[in-house]
Parts: sequence; C-alpha cells; structure tokens
Amino acid sequence: MVVYMARRMIETGFTEEDVKIEGSLRPKCLEDYIGQTKVKENLKVYIEAAKQRNDALDHVLFYGPPGLGKTTLAGIIASEMGVNMKVTSGPAIEKPGEIAAILNNLQEGDLLFVDEIHRLNRQVEEVLYPAMEDYCIDIMIGKGASARSIRLDLPKFTLVGATTRAGLLTAPLRDRFGVIHRLEFYSAEELTLIIQHSAKVLNVGIEKEGAQELARRSRGTPRLANRMLKRVRDFAQIKYEGVITEEVARMALDLMEVDRMGLDHIDRNILTTIIDKFKGGPVGLDTLAASIGEDAGTLEDVYEPFLLKNGFLNRTPKGRVATDLAYHHLGLEIPS
Ligand SMILES: Nc1ncnc2c1ncn2[C@@H]1O[C@H](COP(=O)(O)OP(=O)(O)OP(=O)(O)O)[C@@H](O)[C@H]1O
Ligand SMILES: [Mg+2]
Repeated sequence: MVVYMARRMIETGFTEEDVKIEGSLRPKCLEDYIGQTKVKENLKVYIEAAKQRNDALDHVLFYGPPGLGKTTLAGIIASEMGVNMKVTSGPAIEKPGEIAAILNNLQEGDLLFVDEIHRLNRQVEEVLYPAMEDYCIDIMIGKGASARSIRLDLPKFTLVGATTRAGLLTAPLRDRFGVIHRLEFYSAEELTLIIQHSAKVLNVGIEKEGAQELARRSRGTPRLANRMLKRVRDFAQIKYEGVITEEVARMALDLMEVDRMGLDHIDRNILTTIIDKFKGGPVGLDTLAASIGEDAGTLEDVYEPFLLKNGFLNRTPKGRVATDLAYHHLGLEIPS
C-alpha cells in the first residue's frame, strides 16, 4: 500500500490519517451504502441473480475520481455474495507468473479486487484475458524447442477492477467486464447523511446545520467529508463544547482555506493561473499542469473533474477555459 501525506486539506486520495478512520466508517452492506442509487440498484439485481443461480458474479469494473467508494463497493459485493475478497493492485503485480499464482490460489466464488487496474502491464493483462473469459490460464513449461504450454483450469471467480482513469484501460480488458459502473460525485444531501452516520460512529456531537456545512464543502467526496469531520471535531473539542455547529464548521473550514464552494488553494490556483497567465484560456492540459507544478494525470483525474462538474472549468478541443462562474467566484471581472 502506498501511503502519502496530504498536501492539501482536500486531497481526495488516500492519506495516512484516513487509515485510522476509514476501516470503521466503511459501510459493510449495500443497505448502508449511501448514494450512487443507479449503481446500487444494478448491483442488487446482479448479486441476487448470481446467488439464485449459485454462480459467481460477472466481472465488475468501477471507475471515477478518488474517494467516491470504489474499494468500499468491492468489499460490499464480497460480503453480500458471502465470498472471500483477495486484494491486489495494478502496480503490485510485475510478472505474469505473479498474477498466475494469485489466480491459481483463488477458491470457488472468490472475489479478486484489482485496484488501479489501468496500471497492469501488458503481459500480466494477457494472463487475465483467458482467466476472465474462460476461467483458465496457459502456462509455459520448459524452454526453447521443448517449450510447451499447458492449460490450467481456475475456479469460477469474480474480478472487481477499480480505476480513476478508465481512459487508460485497454479495449480487450475493458470488454471482459460484464458490468461497468462510473461512480458519480455525491449530492450535499447524501454527504450530510454520510457525515451524520460517521459522527455517530466516531461519537461526535454534530448539529444538522453543521453536517450540511461540511457536506457543501466536501467536493462531493465521502472520503473528504469524513476527513473534514475528523478535523473539525478536534477544532470543536478544543474551542467549543465538542459539538459541531454550523458556526464551528464554517470557522474551521475557513481556517483550512476551504471556501464556500469547497474549493481549496490548489483549485483556486488552477483557475487563477488560467485567468492570469493564459487570459482565461484555452490552455492545453500539459501547459497548465506545468505552470501549477502538477503532473498532468493528477490534474486531469483529481482536480479537474470537480471543477468541470461544478461549472468552473470547460474542456474545449483547444484546451481548458475558465468559465464566467470562475471569474465570479474569484471576484474577478469578466473580460469583454
Ligand atoms: N456510499 C458511501 N456511503 C458511506 N461512506 C462512504 C461511501 N462511499 C465511500 N465512503 C467512505 O469514503 C471512504 C473512501 O471510499 P473508498 O476507499 O471506497 O474510495 P475509492 O473510490 O476506492 O478511492 P480511491 O480511488 O482513492 O481508491 C470510505 O472509507 C468510506 O468511509
Ligand atoms: Mg480505493
């Protein structure tokens, strides 16, 4: 597992402080999983059907920005199906032999969760093709002229893949998933429910307005909502009587420089850069990434989706453009 420190309050990726809280806050069954209604309804049907047939579930792919609940859903599928979950990730598997060993050790019905599946290398991927399609792998034995391949049968298993970058998945791999779901940002109402539930688990007092304020500023992302809750809790504990009111939430978030729309300094830096250095755009992704000192992939997967979704940024064939809303939000005059 790669653990890195948050450079920003609203880092949506997994950080060290999440390790302590995520385990206890993760919903364990579909019923407790809030939001993503379409995905949930679909999965419910597939899971029911597979159970009735006494069969493994079709392979499932989840994609979408970090912290929206892909890993959580994989765990829920395993527990709803009543099977074991084995966890690995794209970058962790280097050689075809390693994936072959993992597959060979699976039990009938097991769920294999492959995180960051877009990072599997080509040879490893090729082992997965027959494994996913026909539940078998071909293994080469011997060398040179006497080399031959033997076919090994695998138990029926379910592969659940997760990726923040569905665009990087190869077509043959993508085609082998029977179920593909994109996870969406959560609404403020859904996040309010998640926050209230987490507060109960963490034994923190929170008023409804406090939860709503946190929800509005969590970038549509449960991981962030939980992290903010934890930070604001500490703040409430020291300065107030431990209860998170709207006022406490607002003050704490202001201190953390998360603004009313949930944008932090990096988001504002992205918008300001487009406006100041590139006259509002269009500016290409790579150029923009270089000028804010970010990697283009991170910019595209982590920062942009939220800005796009909320109308601060537009994507055009010529590049990224700051919208009127961005000017307005930053208190800048829109050029004529
Ligand atoms: N629908 C939900 N209801 C309640 N809590 C949720 C929900 N989805 C996610 N969470 C919370 O958010 C945290 C992050 O979710 P998760 O780790 O599943 O995200 P992810 O999509 O796998 O992120 P990454 O792309 O970084 O791997 C979970 O620990 C859980 O506490
Ligand atoms: Mg995950």
